[in-house]
Amino acid sequence: MITNRVQLRPEIAAVVPYRQGSPAGANAFKLSSNENPYEPLPSVLEKLSTHTINRYPDASAHELRSQIAKRFGVTADSVQVGAGSVAVLAQLISAAAAPGDEVVYAWRSFEAYPLLVSSAGATSVPVANSSDHRHDLAAISAAITASTRVVIVCSPNNPTSTVVTDTEFREFMAGVPENVLVVLDEAYREFVVDTEAVRGETLIGKYPNLVVLRTFSKAYGLAGLRIGYAIGPEYVMDAARAVAIPLSVTELAQSAAIASLEHEDELLERVGRLIMVRTRIVEGLRGQGWNVPEPSGNFVWLPTGAATDWAAEVFRSHGIVVRALGEGLRVSVGEEESVEKLLKASQEVVHSRETNQDKPR
Ligand SMILES: Cc1ncc(COP(=O)(O)O)c(C=O)c1O
Repeated sequence: MITNRVQLRPEIAAVVPYRQGSPAGANAFKLSSNENPYEPLPSVLEKLSTHTINRYPDASAHELRSQIAKRFGVTADSVQVGAGSVAVLAQLISAAAAPGDEVVYAWRSFEAYPLLVSSAGATSVPVANSSDHRHDLAAISAAITASTRVVIVCSPNNPTSTVVTDTEFREFMAGVPENVLVVLDEAYREFVVDTEAVRGETLIGKYPNLVVLRTFSKAYGLAGLRIGYAIGPEYVMDAARAVAIPLSVTELAQSAAIASLEHEDELLERVGRLIMVRTRIVEGLRGQGWNVPEPSGNFVWLPTGAATDWAAEVFRSHGIVVRALGEGLRVSVGEEESVEKLLKASQEVVHSRETNQDKPR
């Protein structure tokens, strides 16, 4: 039969494309995309201004990979960079999982995971978080079958901001078959102060099936340039390189990442300031009676349940744009000036729910 539509993969037709955090209008704070509110460092901008863009970038990102490798005490071939860590994750999933294979991850977690798994043609196996909004690693272990090719562990978890502890992670790894790839997604690692949290850098090289994923988007403030990386066994990184779209990491992004590493102290000082803002937010919220899981990312999670969409609108009416994700709100830690407005909005949500019984609960 001839139709006037081309044949697409049926599993792709069912995918809902990635939804970005809403933009903020004038006088509003955009706290919906876990971005860094600081402008790039002057030294980073200066480096960018010296680039021509009529030439292709270094396809192998050799200098950047070497710099990262030096920091982590690995070979440059143990590092893969991509146009955002999400691109590297897509490569890892495509390299390991095909139709009929399974990818296990906690849910709720980063919204791109199900999309990346579907585009590889593989099957997602989401495992519900525990009631305290953390990964349920025992249930994740139990979900691993002979069809599992990849397990993603996200710490701090987007959007709940909770961590997996080092002890929990090591116990978990001891039970994962060594032929299953485990990706530890640490996009928010630099914001972690919890000394018990897992730290990928201490585990690199300790497990034959572990890859650690990091990004320059969050702590380093380069989200718009798109650059992230993974560290893991060379042959796994080679497989990621084999499926990568050639030349997709720009020279600007590579240079900005190198300059950021050179000026890391200044950037990490900003991270320290954001952590202080996070503390103010959490203390304020808890003082209002919110049950906020201890945050370790540059965002906090408000479990608003059935009231989520309504609560997001209350925040918006106060000039605070947050991310409504089904059963809760994710609120990014942004400009210091946003805190007062944010806490006014959260107070109104509490007050309206207390005084107005018809508000969703
Ligand atoms: C948990 C997690 N991993 C990875 C990413 C991807 O970041 P990027 O592609 O900008 O490096 C994000 C972005 O929000 C994230 O939340």
